[in-house]
Amino acid sequence: MKIAVLVSGGGTNLQAIIDSINDGRITGTEICLVYSNNYNAYAIERAKNAGIPVVVKSPKEFETRDDFNKALLQILLDAAPDLIVLAGCLVVIPDCVVKAFPNRIINIHPSLIPAFCGTGFYGLKVHEKVLEGGVRVSGATVHFVDEGTDTGPIILQKPVMIRQDDTPKSLQQRIMEQAEWIILPKAIDLIANGKVKVENHKVIIEGYSTDI
Ligand code: GRF
Repeated sequence: MKIAVLVSGGGTNLQAIIDSINDGRITGTEICLVYSNNYNAYAIERAKNAGIPVVVKSPKEFETRDDFNKALLQILLDAAPDLIVLAGCLVVIPDCVVKAFPNRIINIHPSLIPAFCGTGFYGLKVHEKVLEGGVRVSGATVHFVDEGTDTGPIILQKPVMIRQDDTPKSLQQRIMEQAEWIILPKAIDLIANGKVKVENHKVIIEGYSTDI
């Protein structure tokens, strides 16, 4: 299975995918492209170090958003991935891309959807709202991308308990370490091995185990 990984920042989720392919936690998969909207994303270094083709294109380089959306679609069609993985990607994925890759785009979100998600909930902001809300548990979610924001069918989730002394930063780091870097590679491996299907907006996983 060929995957294209879309990034905007540090690329720790990309690195988790690269490492998981190298150590066999993900089988039958190769990363055919890393795309970033951000020329300064460290994720680009990670991709280059792993010998993965990189394309960087910022929306700012285009006259209109529609021009950017068309260019992004062409970049992805040219790479022809079987699956697109949003790994810390802050670009709004245009409908034309979602329509071209139905149930073939997945995203990692740093909360237990449907809590603390949707427009404006990204990066550290998610964890700030979680701590403001006084909840006792958060975590991460991998879901298919549809036309909404964080509304596609949920594939995997993993909870992380919140500590009294947590800051947004410490919570973000623990959720990345204990949840994101585990469930994103796992979801990719399940999809690569044909274990995932969507029926009536619900994900069915063959051989699903709760001890993830
Ligand atoms: C992570 O918290 C991830 O949940 C969110 O973007 C943040 C940075 O991810 N989507 P990465 O280090 O760039 O993979």
